[in-house]
Amino acid sequence: MDKIRIHGGASLAGTIAVSGAKNAALPLMAACLLTSDRLTLTNVPTLADITTLARLLAELGVEVDPGASDLPAFQPNSIDRPLQGKLALTAADISSTTAPYDLVRKMRASVLVLGPLLARFGRARVSLPGGCAIGPRPVDLHLKALTALGATIELADGYIEATAPQGLRATTIRFPFVSVGATENALMATTLAYGTSIIENAAREPEIGDLARCLVAMGADIEGIGSDRLIVRGVATLHGATYAIVPDRIETGTYAMAAGITGGTIELLGATLDHILVPAQLLAKAGVELAGTNRGVTARPHNGRLKSVDADTQPYPGFPTDLQAQFMALMAVADGRSIITENIFENRFMHVPELARMGARITVKGATAVVTGTDELIGAPVMATDLRASVSLVLAGLAARGTTTISRIYHLDRGYDRLVEKLVACGATIDRIEDNP
Ligand code: EPZ
Repeated sequence: MDKIRIHGGASLAGTIAVSGAKNAALPLMAACLLTSDRLTLTNVPTLADITTLARLLAELGVEVDPGASDLPAFQPNSIDRPLQGKLALTAADISSTTAPYDLVRKMRASVLVLGPLLARFGRARVSLPGGCAIGPRPVDLHLKALTALGATIELADGYIEATAPQGLRATTIRFPFVSVGATENALMATTLAYGTSIIENAAREPEIGDLARCLVAMGADIEGIGSDRLIVRGVATLHGATYAIVPDRIETGTYAMAAGITGGTIELLGATLDHILVPAQLLAKAGVELAGTNRGVTARPHNGRLKSVDADTQPYPGFPTDLQAQFMALMAVADGRSIITENIFENRFMHVPELARMGARITVKGATAVVTGTDELIGAPVMATDLRASVSLVLAGLAARGTTTISRIYHLDRGYDRLVEKLVACGATIDRIEDNP
């Protein structure tokens, strides 16, 4: 397994092309199961999670064309232009409706094939995804929504066995609390249900809006996109479409904080400030200014040393849980005390002991971490534990004095497209090294 080695201290300066959003690409890929026509996605990020889901879809019988080869020549993924990954998916000849454990356990979002398979084929057998480092990650809300739509759901041998031989029937689905994945499964399922469904307390993350707009491009009838109340009039079939994936707001926030923690200036090409307004407000208070440009978003320091700011993770449009670990690294070198509360996941402070190895002063009590800023961090060998924890260690390493080596970076490869190249292009001293066993 490789490691990442960082020699900290440089102020970053330059441009980074923000990739398509991982958390939009995954449900959009699952949506291909709703039609026998070809769904072509562009601005697809090059990530391990995308490869894993593409492998699962291929196992189901989906024709996966990674280059969408009959489209205009594949644009080289260059750093200084938004990436142009293309992916064509055609679910014309589905040979299986079973999503096996060995693939689902690698990537929980595989559970998003459940709703589309059930809606189009009337059956689905999907392995229970199981938990991960940040929490047990149950899928009870997904199952309740599909049951409300008339599906019969049984759990056997670690699998979800879902059937709806007469098809799904529209209904009103009220989520007791916001769930991104459950909203996505319910939204995809209702597009082919008989009648008009209403989804209340729907998640409002931009990735949900992206999925809804793609479904509409495929012929779905959806109202209320962007709101927490979606009205879906079922249609008999959906057709193919070509759809560009929304820029990744979490990648945008991550690299904005890389600028902030090193006191540098980075222009994030293709980024959308509108999708990170609350993080931008907190960063402004902390001394990192985000400004929209005609090419994206620029992050630059202002008013000298970073100031400590509190953060509470909330569903969109609140401060995203996926930026919590990165923000904690930033606060570790701010002037003062920051109280960070994680309200979404049960165990999303795995980065704390690793940051502490670098000299960060953080105490955790339940869902709250108190970060007392220090003048500088010291490079050290540290270990990645989950996707966002791993990138918070990268940020800390960029600011630390000396060298930081990060092991288990397969976590990082799941969600950050060409991270080393992008940071090198902005002047960071960072590389991947073989991890000598
Ligand atoms: C999505 O996960 C994202 N993943 C996560 O990003 C993100 O952190 C999360 O939404 C919150 O924004 C993808 O989109 C692939 P949830 P998801 O359902 O859908 C509980 C990353 O780093 N819950 O909104 O699994 C759940 O345990 C990843 O990119 C239930 O109790 O999140 C959590 O505490 C990490 N029952 C809360 O709800 C359910 O049926 C929110 O989960 C479903 C969820």
